[in-house]
Amino acid sequence: MEWNITHIDETDSTNRWLRDAEELHIRDGSFCVVADYQTAGRGCGTNSWESERGQNLTFSLLIHPEEVPANQQFHITEAVSVALCQTLEKYLPYPVSIKWPNDIYVNGRKICGILTENRLQGTCIKDSIIGIGLNVNQMEFVSDAPNPVSMRQLTGESIDREALLHAFLKRLDRVFSAETLCLEYRNRLFQRMIQCEYSDKDGHFTATIVDVEPDGHLIMRDSEGRERRYAFKEVQFVLR
Ligand code: BTN
Repeated sequence: MEWNITHIDETDSTNRWLRDAEELHIRDGSFCVVADYQTAGRGCGTNSWESERGQNLTFSLLIHPEEVPANQQFHITEAVSVALCQTLEKYLPYPVSIKWPNDIYVNGRKICGILTENRLQGTCIKDSIIGIGLNVNQMEFVSDAPNPVSMRQLTGESIDREALLHAFLKRLDRVFSAETLCLEYRNRLFQRMIQCEYSDKDGHFTATIVDVEPDGHLIMRDSEGRERRYAFKEVQFVLR
């Protein structure tokens, strides 16, 4: 993939910026917009995304994944998550895991969040906007986001954000078509095969993550031996 990269000082949200950049939607190619600061960075659901000006990577990608059918859109989540893990592991002395479906975790703390917005056209994905917030050099987090951590907090060293972005984009190209992608995504799952506490609409329960289906549903086995299957947002991790 050839990336067309745009740097901007400030915008409300890079996902919103790319969505409204209509001239890019009619052009061929893959686009990346990086903002030094977002005034209204969006997290999943109604959450906002905290990122201190000039300290982190807050960027969005616009791709046209023509080869991915709409019913396999989870492939995009898998590719982006795995590419982020592989990139971060080159910088960090710790394993990097994926808290289903697509939070990136190190030492039980969230280092990166992903917000993907796919537009479908029939059975195809017309385009996909993938927003990534990666905590790079920020040393203090003030919002009530659970367990944030940055690369600098973990290593004590300031990291070159531009080099990191390029390393990730290069990695993403490779991972997208890797045959081992599904397996690597599953092997990297946070709390996989460990009995832990979760909650759903009926309350708390103990279960083990067993698998993720190709369409992204999470498969768990609870302490009574019952299999449970969840779509995104139907189950929460209880983290202490
Ligand atoms: C999450 O809640 O985990 C998802 C966070 C996604 C944040 C990124 S920062 C760049 C892009 N622009 C946004 O407004 N959000 C995403």
